[in-house]
Amino acid sequence: MSDIGINTTHAAELLKQGKLVGIPTETVYGLAANALNEKAVLSIFEAKNRPFFDPLIIHLHNLESVQKYAEFHDERLLILAKTFWPGPLTLLLPKKVIIPDLVTSGLNQVAVRIPNHPLTLELLNKLDFPLAAPSANPFGYVSPTEAKHVNDQLGTKVDYILDGGPCGVGLESTIIGIEEGQVCVFRLGGLALETIEKRIGKVELRLNTSSDPKAPGQLKNHYAPKKPLLIGNRAQLQKEHAAKKLAILCFGEDVQAENALVLNLSKTKDPEEAAINLFKFLRLADESDAEIVICDYLPEEGLGRAINDRLKRASVN
Ligand code: TXA
Ligand code: MG
Repeated sequence: MSDIGINTTHAAELLKQGKLVGIPTETVYGLAANALNEKAVLSIFEAKNRPFFDPLIIHLHNLESVQKYAEFHDERLLILAKTFWPGPLTLLLPKKVIIPDLVTSGLNQVAVRIPNHPLTLELLNKLDFPLAAPSANPFGYVSPTEAKHVNDQLGTKVDYILDGGPCGVGLESTIIGIEEGQVCVFRLGGLALETIEKRIGKVELRLNTSSDPKAPGQLKNHYAPKKPLLIGNRAQLQKEHAAKKLAILCFGEDVQAENALVLNLSKTKDPEEAAINLFKFLRLADESDAEIVICDYLPEEGLGRAINDRLKRASVN
């Protein structure tokens, strides 16, 4: 079990000593260390059991400090940064040499974002280095959206957890970069595609769905609960698996089902509310006595797209 609290000075001291701290962001909780200290970064990979080919996002508190570690060669990315930071957006930018190769898995671009959470911004303000922070879950499992989730799984591996309450967005950041001169989305996330396109026009989706680790984080099986998750026509699945103990994720009207754990992502069909609930509900399903989890896709719009992406990667079908 880790110490949990809201003391950013204490968190800053630990990070300066090369230790690991759980940090709240608006998307999900991160497992943070000094990005410039290779030994500290190494301990992130060890704590998460994360392969070294999967690079880390660095977190900073303002645009000026981002420019110390990365370059803005493309005007469109600068516009996105100025419009959506702090917020659920990660940009892939050419890195400066000061960023260790371990952070970027040897790539010449570094993933950067300014998270929108007051406690973590206060913490970053007390540091003169960026924080490398992947989601604070064991590799491949569902991301944490509460301090308790971090403590449950990594409590023995972090020195402190900053408790910023439940995450306000609930899905990881949207990852954007440039490929062949095009603005590309590499991971759907907490900033909706429509919102991005309203600002800079059409962007391309380059979401990897293979098991090819070239585009890490986009591994086909990721973000997965321990229980098998089946997606399809929910009513049909319910009939097919009537003999089993079910957890049912629904969206809109409550599902009537005896002897099942019914988890409604949003009674009012609000994709933003569904995003906040998704990972918490997958964890509840895992902790319950349900044998399988069933659900339907959400409408492919707004955050519904990113939710569907996570469901697909979490599913066994
Ligand atoms: O919302 C978020 O992004 C959260 C919070 C804590 O900031 N972080 C997060 O980190 O989701 P993580 O490590 O779980 O996912 C980061 C993704 C990985 O899939 C990684 O492959 C990709 O970002 N990534 C990081 N650096 C990259 C790079 N240089 N090039 C391509 N992809 C990169
Ligand atoms: Mg992750």
